[in-house]
Amino acid sequence: MAIAIDGPAASGKSSTAKAIARELGFRHVDSGALYRAATAARVRQGGDAESWTEESVLAAARMVTLVPTELGFTPLLDGETAEDEMRGEEVTRHVSLVARMPAMREWVNAQVRKAAHEHDVVVDGRDIGTVVLPSARPKIFLVASPGERAKRRLLERHAGAPSDGEIAEETGRIVLRDDMDAAQSVRAADAIVIDTTHLAQAEQIARIVALVRAGGWEVQ
Ligand code: CDP
Repeated sequence: MAIAIDGPAASGKSSTAKAIARELGFRHVDSGALYRAATAARVRQGGDAESWTEESVLAAARMVTLVPTELGFTPLLDGETAEDEMRGEEVTRHVSLVARMPAMREWVNAQVRKAAHEHDVVVDGRDIGTVVLPSARPKIFLVASPGERAKRRLLERHAGAPSDGEIAEETGRIVLRDDMDAAQSVRAADAIVIDTTHLAQAEQIARIVALVRAGGWEVQ
């Protein structure tokens, strides 16, 4: 069984997917983390991003392995976790470019499908419900206003409350990435859209878990 959680940048997909996986005893697969890992691997090899070829990114991605964890899977870079690098500014700036490369989409999709073939999974991404696992049920599409998404992303990184200036700057970056990701972010016709702008995270998780259970799928 596979549950798809799609949505735009910083809409809370990963944290929600992780919590749902924990609640239902499924494995969490973060497809964006694979795009980030491949991008980080290519960044390590240096050179101007404008000159990155699809072949060079695919070759760099050989450094990435997807390993099982307690709750799901995590990509390693050269055998080690590299969360800060993968979530950092440089990778975030270039990841959409990598995600537009057909060979890289195939590379990610194959790994996600393999995990879904072997386990019950909650997968988060942009095109899980449409392209990667069209038979996933239910399909959730999380949305929130750009300003709210920017605030959450900053809170995730900083301890204190972000200033208005910081929020405005981050909102700009998020809107830019939404634009760059538009082609690969396709909402499934049968996706359930949840606007989380005014929703507490616990409530959004509870709603999705209730939806899964109400659906009559084989979940305890
Ligand atoms: O968490 P956040 O929204 O910042 O992004 P992410 O899920 O970590 O994904 C990083 C990037 O990977 C996105 O900006 C997309 O360019 C790409 N991506 C994609 O194209 N398709 C997916 N299924 C997942 C991510």
